[in-house]
Amino acid sequence: MVTASHVLDRVLVLEMVRVTEAAAVAASKLIGRGNEKAADHAAVEAMRAALNTLEMDGTVVIGEGERDEAPMLFIGEKVGSAQGTGPRIDIALDPLEGTTITAKAGPNALAVLAIAEQGCLLNAPDVYMDKLAVGPGYPEGVIDLNKSPTENIRSVAAAKGVDPSDIIICVLDRPRHEKLIAELRGLGCGIMLIPDGDVAGVIAVTNPDTTIDVYMGSGGAPEGVLAAAALRCVGGQFQGRLLFRNDDERGRAAKWGVEDLDRIYHLNDLAKGDVIFAATGVTDGSLLEGVKRRKNCITTESVVMRASTGTVRWVKGEHRNEPGIGC
Ligand code: FBP
Repeated sequence: MVTASHVLDRVLVLEMVRVTEAAAVAASKLIGRGNEKAADHAAVEAMRAALNTLEMDGTVVIGEGERDEAPMLFIGEKVGSAQGTGPRIDIALDPLEGTTITAKAGPNALAVLAIAEQGCLLNAPDVYMDKLAVGPGYPEGVIDLNKSPTENIRSVAAAKGVDPSDIIICVLDRPRHEKLIAELRGLGCGIMLIPDGDVAGVIAVTNPDTTIDVYMGSGGAPEGVLAAAALRCVGGQFQGRLLFRNDDERGRAAKWGVEDLDRIYHLNDLAKGDVIFAATGVTDGSLLEGVKRRKNCITTESVVMRASTGTVRWVKGEHRNEPGIGC
């Protein structure tokens, strides 16, 4: 039997694309303009307005920061037009994943959103997370954050039937990764260094066209939850461990209910149940084409995926009524 909640779920799946599209289109006006804050602000405002048109009782669990540090889309903010009556949905969002990329017109900036039933997304504190990911098709346990990078690469290479030197690893280009990069170079691996944007970096392991076999290194924990939501839908393995640089960060984790600070999170610990992930490209990247502001319309490319069905939909949009578009 098709229940109202099923219909609502299905409507929500496609409506999510409108939300990420709105954020991406708004941010696209600032591509290459050298102003990270303005690009982020435009995306946040547009995403919030679009979220508030959705018929749901939504709560932001991963957002722009805590209430006192973010004017909108802060953690705990209620969004949606059916407060108290609609389905209770938890939301992890990043209206502009890759603010610096956008400011510099680099690759792989995204507007991203994941939703799940209440309590299904890890309320990740805004600290770093050590991340390790491979795409689908590998035996369970092929990666293990408790093991060294060398052991992990040897394990993936053996499972793929190639030499470790044939493995391509995506790593954020940061001084903190010098040791990791040196170790991987010692194995002769190919390393794809990305300037920013590890949500796209992690998801890239699921797409053979990128040639990336493994994602390694530390980045934002909230971005880890978003990437995990996508992998729940398309397959692959992901492990994450929170990294704390000081007592303030440990305190933040405790505040969000993280008890075991050293534990390893697997996909289902980060995003469980019927998760839905949506993203729209802001700039061109491995996952999506970016927003193109053409003479008569703005074009977008988005993806929306659902864990319970494994469905992945690619959505091309042409927007003709945006400000600044003459038609
Ligand atoms: P922003 O969009 O907030 O700038 O984040 C971009 C990003 O590269 C993320 O993809 C990544 O998780 C994080 O920053 C890494 O943090 P840092 O720049 O401190 O290494």
